[in-house]
Order: sequence, then structure tokens, then C-alpha cells
Amino acid sequence: MTVKISVLVSGRGTNLQSVIDAIENGEIENAEIACVISDKKEAYALERAEKHGIEGIYIDPKSCACRQEFDDILLGILKEKGSDLVLLAGYLRIISDSLIEEYRNRIINIHPSLLPSFKGLNAQRQAIEYGVKYTGCTVHFVEPDLDAGPIIMQKVIPVLDGDTADTLAKRLLIEENKAYREAVKLFVDGKLEVNGRIVKIKE
Ligand code: GRF
Repeated sequence: MTVKISVLVSGRGTNLQSVIDAIENGEIENAEIACVISDKKEAYALERAEKHGIEGIYIDPKSCACRQEFDDILLGILKEKGSDLVLLAGYLRIISDSLIEEYRNRIINIHPSLLPSFKGLNAQRQAIEYGVKYTGCTVHFVEPDLDAGPIIMQKVIPVLDGDTADTLAKRLLIEENKAYREAVKLFVDGKLEVNGRIVKIKE
């Protein structure tokens, strides 16, 4: 069976690209990207989708009276596309509880810190300002609480003397892109077992 993936984006889309490449080069088998959905018209991620013949859909937040209305439209599209898995890849909107409920343990996000440290925006800056010696990225299932869902995978990198939020973010992005495609492969291969907060990777 082919796993249909829908990807939600707001920006440049390097994590989207990583998953596209892994599907195209056969690293991830039995999966296809059904569509890429953006809340930003100018998101470069939409161009990436187009270059690979993937449908890109823009939903204008201004056309919706509230978050729930936006997410109702989004949910309609996700269902229409037959999505089995939803990836948040630099998607900047908070997702409503009803959407999370509908796709429980089937929505995955990536965050640029070792959760539960440095939740929310500017995680790399938070890490620099806190003075940690190591940081990293976390791929996790999405729960209603922000950046708090069951952890699938983490990758760790050192914070170097002289690092700024920008230099750290750049080095971290390489690990993020790897972690995301590895985690998606585990999901697609049916190797993730979720028990409460604990995600077990089956042999
Ligand atoms: C990444 O740093 C990711 O961890 C965070 O948003 C950024 C998205 O980057 N959630 P990209 O759009 O995938 O390049």
C-alpha cells in the first residue's frame, strides 16, 4: 500500500525537499506526497512542490473568520487527498485540537531543539542564550500542547564557541533534514509503535 503524505508549510521547505528527495531516490519506498499546503502564498516550499510535479495548495488565512474555519478547510483537503500522514515542515500556524484528534499519531512535526528544552519560536537563539553545550532537533508526533508530543527521534550537535543563532541554525538544519526523512521512513515502514508518551521503534 502507498502511504499518502500531505505536507503543511509556511516557508522555504528544506525539510519538505528532504522527504521529496528520499521518495524520489527510493530511500523511502511505498509513499507519495499527495499535496503541499501553505498558509503563505509566497512560500518557496510551494515552488519546490511544483518543480517536482506535486500539487501545491494555498489557503488564505484572511479568507477565514477564525482558526477553526481555516482548519476545517484544511481538514477537508487532507481528507479529499486521502492523507495517511500529515507532516508539518516549517508550518507556522497552531493546529486546532479537532484536527489533531482526527489525525492522532499521524501528524509529525520537527522542532530545532532537544525537546522539552526551548519550545516555541527561535529555539536556536534560546539555546545560544541559555549557554547549552549541546543542542539538536526533535521529530515528534503532534499533540494539542505545543512541542510536547511523543518523541520519535532526536539528533544532537555541539554548540561551538563563537556560534550565533544563525551559524547554529545552519549546522542544525543538516541534521534536521536527515532526521525528518529517517522518521518519515520509519512511519511509512510501519515501525513506530506509540504507547502514551513513548514511541518504540520496532525491529
Ligand atoms: C526548521 O528549523 C524546523 O525545525 C522548524 O521550522 C524550520 C523549517 O525549515 N519547525 P524548512 O522550511 O523545512 O526549511
